Amino acid sequence: MTSLMLVAALAVADSRIESLIARMTVEEKVAQIVQPVFRKDGLAKAIAAAERGEFGTCIWFPVDAKGRNAVQRAAVERTRLGIPVLFCHDVIHGEFLTFPIAPALAGSFEPELFERAQSVAARQASAHGLDLSFAPMCDLAEDPRWGRVAETCGEDPYLTSLCVAAQVHGFQGDDPSAPDRVAACLKHFCGYGASRGGRDYHEAEISEWTLWNHHLPPFVAGVRADALSVMSSFNTLDGVPLTANRRMLTDVLRGTIGFGGCVIGDWGAVAQLVDWGFASDRAEASVRALSAGNDIDMVSPCYTNGIPAAIANGTLPMSVLDEAVRRVLRLKERAGLFDRPYVDETRLAKDADWCESDRKLALECAEKSVVLLRNDGVLPLASGGTVALIGPVAESRRELIGCWAAHFDESRATSLAEALRRELPNGTDLLVAKGCGMMGGVEWTVETDGSMTKRETPDGEDDRLWAEAMSAADRADVVVMAIGEGWAWTGENGSRHTLGLTGRQQALFDAVAAKGKKIVSVVFAGRPLALPEVYEKSDAVLYAWQPGAEGGHALARLLVGKAMPSARLTMSVPEDIGVLPVNYNHPSSGHPTLGGYREYAPASRWENRAWGSVPARFPFGFGLTYTTFAYSDARVEKGADGFATAVVTVRNTGSRAGVETVQLYVRQVACAAGVRPVRELRGFRRVTLASGEGVDVRFPISDETLGYVDRAGGSRTDAGAYKLWIAPDAVSGLELDLQR
Ligand code: GLC
Repeated sequence: MTSLMLVAALAVADSRIESLIARMTVEEKVAQIVQPVFRKDGLAKAIAAAERGEFGTCIWFPVDAKGRNAVQRAAVERTRLGIPVLFCHDVIHGEFLTFPIAPALAGSFEPELFERAQSVAARQASAHGLDLSFAPMCDLAEDPRWGRVAETCGEDPYLTSLCVAAQVHGFQGDDPSAPDRVAACLKHFCGYGASRGGRDYHEAEISEWTLWNHHLPPFVAGVRADALSVMSSFNTLDGVPLTANRRMLTDVLRGTIGFGGCVIGDWGAVAQLVDWGFASDRAEASVRALSAGNDIDMVSPCYTNGIPAAIANGTLPMSVLDEAVRRVLRLKERAGLFDRPYVDETRLAKDADWCESDRKLALECAEKSVVLLRNDGVLPLASGGTVALIGPVAESRRELIGCWAAHFDESRATSLAEALRRELPNGTDLLVAKGCGMMGGVEWTVETDGSMTKRETPDGEDDRLWAEAMSAADRADVVVMAIGEGWAWTGENGSRHTLGLTGRQQALFDAVAAKGKKIVSVVFAGRPLALPEVYEKSDAVLYAWQPGAEGGHALARLLVGKAMPSARLTMSVPEDIGVLPVNYNHPSSGHPTLGGYREYAPASRWENRAWGSVPARFPFGFGLTYTTFAYSDARVEKGADGFATAVVTVRNTGSRAGVETVQLYVRQVACAAGVRPVRELRGFRRVTLASGEGVDVRFPISDETLGYVDRAGGSRTDAGAYKLWIAPDAVSGLELDLQR
């Protein structure tokens, strides 16, 4: 479509929208800005409510295209104006086929993998009747105590921005109205990752400097990628809940950043303005949220009950309601709903399922998401002998699937045990023992209404399981521990005040380690865990995060060397919970050699290690593989155009081929606008090198590479001195000086 055709099409669409608004009653307008939830048993209720014209969008739990079309026919064919309904849901890391969770997949440092994965998710979700996914998550991971770090792309704004833009394009493609695409929703705007103490839903205290340079860039990237919607976040900023934060939703998001789409409030958040103590009642909450720029009320009844009265009594101008309705109708227009309100039900047979190429993509994503943190030579596993696979994740599929999958088919995932039986070479015996339960004798399941039920399981203190594990360890040459943090404690409302293994797993690991066998620990978690004993006593550690349906298969291939580890950490792993925060991109301090924790200090009071020198146990960007690489000859080359290029020679110094993710970090030595981090990631290159092979890796240095954002949202690059690092992670590498 040429730009002229696009302009003409938008003009036609706008006139259709304006003529609709002119004809709508207040009740019909309010219906467009409310979003009830319908669950698997809610079809009749949804049809009846649609016939009464009670809602314009909904959260659609049932994966049922027929049901969706039945609800849609009620809205389109049996209401006065026939406005189609927008069906939404959370498709976060896959729909039926789950991919690795975001902090893992971002660790591939291949944003295009995200685009391909979300394209598969969009095809499956749209075949089942969804028009919009509440993703990608743009929040940054600040504190691993916060369960939702499991949905972030990690702690770095540059990597997150690239992954967000890739996901938006994966969901929406070039034309979001295409039948196999869904609208994206940038969430949660903004600063949710800084929720106080890692406690979900709490306040966030963020300076303007940090807001513009840390938390907003991923949203800017998502808006530039043409995301059709944004979700406001549960937290406050500057004491004002984002749901009713006019400065953020209107002045910043729409004014400065230029977002022209629709803002959806988070679940019940309009009503929660009363709980925050920000509104005296729900009527006031409704007016303040809608006036601030929060167009849609998700699930709470506030707009339904409060907006008609506010219009009638003059506390809310009709123009405010009209503008929200306009944005909702434009969203539906861009999603193609006016021209194609129904789903082609024949697609169920071919698009909703996953095909071999989808499965191979999930396998590739999982292989490229697992981080090798340590390897004293025990990996890849040698053939022959006996391997004991011990731990509660050994035969679990659910622990691989991940924390934010609503419609996955667990039966089609591959457990680590099943995969190892296939991948281990002939002549290698495999013993499998659970050892103990993941959660110490309880198990959580998520019901269709999203609630969680907890039930007792016998494996908490099961002596038989324990004995079987000890016996397996005694008979093994190598033990592979499959341990971690139960999925039920990750994701939303999954905050923890410890960062250890759940249940009795630490005792299980200690008992196995005491036997003196070679140990490979595979850690499954939704956040970085502080496991000093495991990291210290294992001969190898693979950080698997929650690797998705093909995670077991990927891990088996990595363990036997049929695949090579290449992922890097997207979140720093703390030594223990007491040193938080440990994110790498922190500013220096006025006492760069002081201010550390006394526990890390040598004898003298005035020689303790600075905060910045109490490194994470494993830093952002870190990851090993089955070969080694050497960096040399770092230099800055000036082109005829005066632009600089940072160059380094990288050589594979090991005996196997491998992939190295070469990273570019920058630091402005002195910035009068505000102190900048000691390092900021501003580029990376994945290079595949054969044993002995070397290559020059080049990073053009532009103003954007060096720049920052000022407090008015403007991009700035100062003249002056800069440090550059070309590095394998956020704390090492070769340093260069650059004068701009
Ligand atoms: C939840 C989450 C949000 C999700 C929404 C709909 O509370 O905060 O990420 O998209 O509700 O399920």
